[in-house]
Amino acid sequence: LKAKVTIDREFKIGDIDKRLYGSFIEHLGRAVYGGIYELNHPDSTEQGFRTDVIELVKELQVPIVRYPGGNMVSAYNWEDGVGPVSERPKKLELAWRVVEPNYIGTNEFADWAKLANTEVMMAVNLGTRGIDAARNLLEYCNHPSGSYWSDLRRSHGYKEPHKFKTWCLGNEMDGPWQVGHKTADEYGRLALETAKAMRLVDPTIELVACGSSNANMPTFPEWEATTLEHTYEEVDYLSLHQYYGNRSGDTANYLAKTLEMDDFIKTVTATCDYIKAKKRSKKTMHLSFDEWNVWFHSNQADQEIEPWSIAPPQLEDVYTFEDALLVGSILMTLVRHADRVKMACMAQLVNVIAPIMTETGGSAWKQTIFYPYMHVSIFGRGTSLKPVISSPKYDSKDFTDVPYLDSAVVWNEEKDELTIFLLNRHLQDALDLTIDVRSFEEYKLKEHIVLENDDLKAVNTVRQEAVKPHSNGDASLDKGTICTHLSKASWNVIRLG
Ligand code: AHR
Repeated sequence: LKAKVTIDREFKIGDIDKRLYGSFIEHLGRAVYGGIYELNHPDSTEQGFRTDVIELVKELQVPIVRYPGGNMVSAYNWEDGVGPVSERPKKLELAWRVVEPNYIGTNEFADWAKLANTEVMMAVNLGTRGIDAARNLLEYCNHPSGSYWSDLRRSHGYKEPHKFKTWCLGNEMDGPWQVGHKTADEYGRLALETAKAMRLVDPTIELVACGSSNANMPTFPEWEATTLEHTYEEVDYLSLHQYYGNRSGDTANYLAKTLEMDDFIKTVTATCDYIKAKKRSKKTMHLSFDEWNVWFHSNQADQEIEPWSIAPPQLEDVYTFEDALLVGSILMTLVRHADRVKMACMAQLVNVIAPIMTETGGSAWKQTIFYPYMHVSIFGRGTSLKPVISSPKYDSKDFTDVPYLDSAVVWNEEKDELTIFLLNRHLQDALDLTIDVRSFEEYKLKEHIVLENDDLKAVNTVRQEAVKPHSNGDASLDKGTICTHLSKASWNVIRLG
């Protein structure tokens, strides 16, 4: 099977905002308690942050982490999570039906983010609360001093403002499961008025309005249109969320699901541009794909968890090799839309549908999906270039004309590096591939990383890393042409520089 890719330095899609490789920590399951925080762990800081987890987060070079939710934020009183820990209330957390002890809150998370070398993407509660709580939280976080809420922060030991730049106006407000669920008109009005008040407190912030919870919602894409009718001039981004799964065990169909993701992004972009035209606006709306991942392995186990415990093991999907292939394809889809999708968050980061897992009192380890995420986060900075792909195709249950070859290309002009990400979706055969890189004539081949495994269902565990990349790919470069074989069902990173 033969395939070809043509790459040219002039085929620019757009600049990649590093926040495209963000992630997410929600107060959910063992993400916070037992994940980033475990007071009595031998590797923890005095404050209780696990340094082994921080090291893995740093390996991923995560640029931004969304916090504190998720569904949880829609009934969260942020005031419960600040001030002396001994005085903080334990509350029923309604989204996941657990008890929230509030040992960790806004200030501690800001401390953790500094240690992990990342930014915070904050979310405000527009479920049970509204304008007042949001503007107070912003004043608490970002105002230097001389006002009630900023001085309260200072009295809590945080003299300097956190200067959080990116703020989400609620979470999945279109979802009937959301505490304080709203219609698009109700949400649009509230998001607009909250945005206006927040900008009065701090005009430097960037705001994200809620799009649909997924592309199958009955209100999609009308929700987007109505929300933007209200908020277009006051917000900077519209969110997208989507999770994928291989429930029917049909891998060929599963690996094609990024075609659906591509359509989702195109529809949301078109909806934004429709409202732009309707409003005769000069402003272009950007997208924040701030929840994406594979999520289905743990669905059954989660049904069996008793309510009202603290930090039970919820949403602990154990990822397979084929999940890593899909995650690579998802990341490439985001890169190819870098002109409009400026932020995205793999949901989530630790223990909860996550690339990083921990044993309580034990080690931290890498799931299969850690690797494609790390590769694209590290090597995917710069300008997204459009790969012109010619590939044989297949049909699957839900898709027709699925190219066996999937690719995205990033040129880091500053570092003089070109990175070609490639997925071979063929489950039996290698792809005989040539890549035209004549416009990067002076570049040399640096590395061909491959993630492959004969067992599509192979998983990593705390004891054994069955799925990990090697750098023995067979790519060779001669007179501006790369020749290589992409082994069946494999994720590849070819680096030039
Ligand atoms: O990431 C898990 C959950 O998925 C989030 O809390 C919610 O926003 C989404 O439905």
